[in-house]
Amino acid sequence: MQPDSPHPKTPVQDESLHAYISRLYAAQDDVQLDLLTAAEREGLPQISVSPALGKLLALLVQISGARRILEIGTLAGYSAVWLGRALPTDGKLISLEIEPKHAAVARRSIERAGLADRVEVRVGPALDSLAKLAGDPAFDMVFIDADKPSYPAYLDWALRLVRPGGLIVADNVLRDGDVLSPDIQDAGIQAIRTYNDRVAQDPRLDGLILFTRSRGHEVDGVSVARVRDGSPV
Ligand code: SAH
Ligand code: DHB
Ligand code: MG
Repeated sequence: MQPDSPHPKTPVQDESLHAYISRLYAAQDDVQLDLLTAAEREGLPQISVSPALGKLLALLVQISGARRILEIGTLAGYSAVWLGRALPTDGKLISLEIEPKHAAVARRSIERAGLADRVEVRVGPALDSLAKLAGDPAFDMVFIDADKPSYPAYLDWALRLVRPGGLIVADNVLRDGDVLSPDIQDAGIQAIRTYNDRVAQDPRLDGLILFTRSRGHEVDGVSVARVRDGSPV
């Protein structure tokens, strides 16, 4: 965060409190730690979700009873392992990744996690892979975490592919407060503002943003939205 940022940290976003939460509730096992080490060794960007966000994703899967999940942006498979472990044994996670190298690293770790039967990585631009999913059974949950300028397009696809009552979750929707700085006009931030506005305004959705700490940006947020199925919130 810039020193002159108009959005100073509040105590709830303090790093030591985040570490406290992670230590208590989001302990990582050797598979997850080795996955991150392998990703670093292979030179992949270190932008996997935090352990605490991984735990939240797993809880959302279990609370909602999700059995079919779609992830957009696999990277090294870190969030995929949290999501995949939370699925029932006959559940399915399809994860979309544009970089063949990322997909290869992820597949190795998914295998090592014992999740190869449940987690499938599909390589290619997500918008192409999404178009091919149009005729498949609906998803119970989508996790959006790929290129930020495409977030509004990913939301359109999520609304087509997720069943009523299902969840649409998106990482990095606050970006260190950049969403609130009118002078920041890059395509990614503009698209994230559009994404957040649309979740707020779309009559098909009920949503909220939770504060997170991401690895690359101190303060960030995760958007959690539910596709309405008739029952009021
Ligand atoms: N969800 C991961 C992190 C994803 S990082 C985790 O938390 O563990 C974002 C990923 O999206 C990168 O691996 C990047 O290569 C991928 N990506 C970027 N643009 C993409 C696109 N158009 N289609 C599919 N994947 C894309
Ligand atoms: C960054 C972090 C992310 O979680 C992501 O999905 C993409 C980029 C970053 O810090 O640059
Ligand atoms: Mg992210």
